[in-house]
Amino acid sequence: MAAGKAYFGSATDNPELADTVYVNGLSNTADFGQITPGNAMKWDTIEPSRGTFSYTNGDAIVSLAQKNGQKLRCHTLVWYSQLPNWVKSGGFDNATLISIMKNHITNEVTHYKGKCLHWDVANEALNEDGTYRSNVFYDTIGPAYLPIAFATAAAADPEARLYYNDYNIESAGSKSTGAQNIVKLIKQYGAKIDGVGFQSHFIVGSTPSESAQTSNMNAFVSLGVEVAITELDIRTTTPSTASAIAQQAKDYAATIGACKAVSKCVGVTIWDYTDKYSWIPSVFSGQGAALPWDENIQKKLDIYNAILNAW
Ligand code: XIL
Repeated sequence: MAAGKAYFGSATDNPELADTVYVNGLSNTADFGQITPGNAMKWDTIEPSRGTFSYTNGDAIVSLAQKNGQKLRCHTLVWYSQLPNWVKSGGFDNATLISIMKNHITNEVTHYKGKCLHWDVANEALNEDGTYRSNVFYDTIGPAYLPIAFATAAAADPEARLYYNDYNIESAGSKSTGAQNIVKLIKQYGAKIDGVGFQSHFIVGSTPSESAQTSNMNAFVSLGVEVAITELDIRTTTPSTASAIAQQAKDYAATIGACKAVSKCVGVTIWDYTDKYSWIPSVFSGQGAALPWDENIQKKLDIYNAILNAW
C-alpha cells in the first residue's frame, strides 16, 4: 500500500516478533514498506542506567527491516515518558543534564548511523495550549533543549531526516501553532530540523477532515520542513458497530488522502497493523478496533480498501 512517492508502514514491538503469522504479515512489502519500533529505541530501553547502553531490542527491529528491505523510522530520543528514573527524577544542573542528553543522543544515533531514514528527535514537547510541557529537560535547560537535541543528532548522523513528533497537531489550533514555533525555534538556533510527524491517534467520527489535515500540513511545509503521519490509528468504542466501521473507513481515507494531497508528505505509519497488538485498549478503556487488521490478523476489507483507494 504505497503511493509513488510515499511509504506506508507499521509500528512493531519485540514481543510480537515471536508470532510467526504476525511477522509474515508485517514482512509483506506489498503492504508495508516501512517499520517503526514501538518501544525498542526509547530511553528506558536503550540507556536504563547512566552510561549503560542496551541495543538488543532495537537491533532486532533494524535486522527485520533490513531483511525485508523496509525503510526505518527511528523513535524516539528525547521524551518525558518511558524515561528512566535516573533522568526523570532530575536534580542535575543545566550543564550536567545537557551533557547527559547529548551523550544519550550521540551514543544512540551513532549506533544506528546510516540505518534510520528518520529520527524522531523530540516527542511530545507541548501542552494542549501550545506552551512547552513541563518535563525534566524543559524545567532544567529551558526551550534550548530542543535545538541542542537536534544539533546533536545531526552531528551524529548527518544523513538522517530529523523530526519533531507530537499528537493533536493534525489540524489548525494552539498546539499546531506551538509545533510550528518549535520548527522556527530550532531553525533560529541554526540547528537542522527536516520534518514534523503527526502522530494521528484519532477517534472515529472526530478525525479532522481531509481539508483540515491538508491545510495544516501545508502550514508546516511552508516553514521549510517535510511532514509524515507517524502513529495513525482510529479508535472506537468496542465492540465496534457497522456504522462505526463505515465512518472509520472514511476517517482513514481522509487521513491518507491528506498525505497524498501534500507533495511533502513522505509517508504514513500505522501504530501497529493488527488489533491483536494495538496499544489502544490498554490505555483508553473500552476503546479499540483501531487498526486495519483485526485481532485474528485478518484484513478488515472495508478499512483496507478505503486506504488503498485513498492512495
Ligand atoms: C506506546 C507503545 O505503543 C506502548 O507499547 C507503550 O506501552 C507506550 O507507548 N505516542 C508515542 C508512542 O509517541 O511512543 C506511544 O507508544 C504511543 C503514543
